[in-house]
Amino acid sequence: MTRSTQGKVPAVVLLGAVLMFPHLARGEESSRSPAVGREYRSPICVVASPDGETVYVSDRTGGSLVILDAAEMTKRGEIALHGQPRGLALSADGSTLYVAEHGAGSVAVIDTKSREVVSRIGVGKWPTSLVTADNTKRLYVGNQDSNSISVIDLGQRPAAAIKQIPVVREPSCLAATPDEQFIVAANLLPLGRGTDPTLSAALSIIDARSLETAATVKLPPGATMVAGVCISPDGKWAYVVHGLGRFNMPITQLEHGWVNTNALSIVDIANGSRLATLLLDDLTQGAADPNSIVCSHDGNRLWISHAGVHEISLIEIGLIHELLHGNAPLQSPALKAGSGANIWTQIQQDRGKIADLENDLTALFIAGAIRRTSSGGTGPRGLALSANGQHLFVANYYSGAVAVLRADTGKLQGTISLGPQPEPNAARRGEIIFHDATHAFQRWHSCASCHANEGRVDGLRWDFLGDGIGNPKDTLSLVHFDKTEPMNRRATMASARDCAKGGLESTNMLASTEQDVNDLFAYLTSLRPLPSPHLTPDGKLTKAAERGKALFEGRANCLRCHPAPYFTDKKMHNVGVLSENEPDGRYDTPSLLEAYRTAPYLHDGRALTLKDVLTVENQRKQHGKTDALTDREIDDLAAYLLSL
Ligand code: HEC
Ligand code: HEC
Repeated sequence: MTRSTQGKVPAVVLLGAVLMFPHLARGEESSRSPAVGREYRSPICVVASPDGETVYVSDRTGGSLVILDAAEMTKRGEIALHGQPRGLALSADGSTLYVAEHGAGSVAVIDTKSREVVSRIGVGKWPTSLVTADNTKRLYVGNQDSNSISVIDLGQRPAAAIKQIPVVREPSCLAATPDEQFIVAANLLPLGRGTDPTLSAALSIIDARSLETAATVKLPPGATMVAGVCISPDGKWAYVVHGLGRFNMPITQLEHGWVNTNALSIVDIANGSRLATLLLDDLTQGAADPNSIVCSHDGNRLWISHAGVHEISLIEIGLIHELLHGNAPLQSPALKAGSGANIWTQIQQDRGKIADLENDLTALFIAGAIRRTSSGGTGPRGLALSANGQHLFVANYYSGAVAVLRADTGKLQGTISLGPQPEPNAARRGEIIFHDATHAFQRWHSCASCHANEGRVDGLRWDFLGDGIGNPKDTLSLVHFDKTEPMNRRATMASARDCAKGGLESTNMLASTEQDVNDLFAYLTSLRPLPSPHLTPDGKLTKAAERGKALFEGRANCLRCHPAPYFTDKKMHNVGVLSENEPDGRYDTPSLLEAYRTAPYLHDGRALTLKDVLTVENQRKQHGKTDALTDREIDDLAAYLLSL
């Protein structure tokens, strides 16, 4: 076996992971997933104060902000918040902390001295990540529900949104250049047709002066689960971590990143272009589900959390830039006299070879530019570097604790618990399995690498072998999967439980115990659809959606195959959406629940929008009665589908 996988490598894999997002404001008990009971402690984001004394942590399932003493490594206090606390941003002087209240539609403004919520700023329903720009008195907030960035003017009293800027899809993480001229937003999932072989997620770069999108930078084909981004101290580079799925290849093996790999992309912010994408995996040890990334104060190092494998990687990014420019320092092991031809020596001769890095599982390792260490807990998500650069704080989601690592060596200095962590019940154990790539052969991916956002979709399609080869299927959401048997688009399995077990065995390829299967099943069956962001603020259908509902149930004849409450008759039909290798055209009627977040549509992902399903992809007129509908009626029907 050679040390390199240059050439056409394969494929890939998975995506990073994990971000989950669900949920709702307190009070909306009915829609809260029982899998994430509020009693569990689940630290998700973390920031360190500029004076080095305090660390703030958002606890997603605990519903609070937890305040930790960095030196004593103890918990100092806690503030109850609304919804599910997610992203954090601290003003430059450390006096004000902003917390995204996912599901509650607000940002909590906390006075760090008095430790009180002093106000709330209304944003999208599902704010994820935020970043402050102190000199220009702005706060930028990523809204997962409306695929947009809210721009908040902090100079105004009360602070309020002055603009909403559309981005691509589910902004998961934001960063600002030090001069506050550009805001970079990571879009979690790709938005495009599954039939497009170049389908990929993108970074949105916003010009903070015009408040318009300056560039949308596509990541390499198969990029998805774009969970984290940070910016170099000179403001030149955005470093973004993501999964890189080899979705154009059949899933015949997991080895060597054939299905999913995990990557770091380097983007030139001012140029709006991608310099390079490097794989974080080793040849036989995947680095599943990269989640967060931070940069050292001098710009020479990066730290990345890998939620699926419970590791942190330390990247010598200064060295990588040297190598990319072809002028690596002589002491670099990759270029020492006597070392054979490798990707770096090739790049020295031909910078065009930089493009091959996204297929090379050895580049970072032979350059001595990556080290991976334990995260000091389970399911690491958020990262923060201490003000003096000596410590790295790691939010270990399933441990309910923040680990303190030495930044230079990764050595564990201690852990700070957010509070008592109850023994996990079956659903929480299943949730942990679902997000754990160490169960998978060579740890390339977890279930969550493809089923993002707690069992939903990755925006890609995959060619599994269970229904033959050469007939890729758009990833299915698992919400209520037990209520919509048979399983998979071609109904290749009758029972949901067998399918969960099959998933563990075939996708992850490791023998599972009976208890693992039971736990996984308990988790998956606990998932509940979230109320659509397209409903009115009081949870009702809009007027257009009302009209669409009447058509759905009446003239358009959709109800026949998509009856409530799960919007499927659980049967196979040929609705005229034909694929070459499946001439019978028969597919299991999919549930339409949460259709607002599962694009693209139809078995192979050929339809980008719900309207496309009813129009351009219904040329044979076998899919409901849509030909007699006016354009406005089609729009009304699509509005109803977005509300489910
Ligand atoms: C490489 C991406 C990928 C990974 C990893 C993955 N899945 Fe899937 N999953 C899919 C796709 C694509 C489908 C749709 C397949 C089809 O329609 O034939 C699917 C379908 C399913 C279904 C059927 C849903 C239904 O309603 O019919 C279940 C259940 C499921 N996956 C569970 C899991 C579990 C559990 C894991 C982890 C052990 C997992 N998946 C890992 C991509 C993935
Ligand atoms: C004869 C049964 C039948 C009728 C009637 C029907 N559908 Fe479907 N629907 C299906 C099947 C089967 C699929 C899956 C087709 C595929 O995957 O290629 C589907 C897929 C869909 C999808 C894509 C969902 C996804 O996640 O990929 C949407 C949206 C949809 N139907 C909406 C409608 C609407 C709206 C109507 C009424 C105008 C309607 N359907 C009428 C059987 C039906």
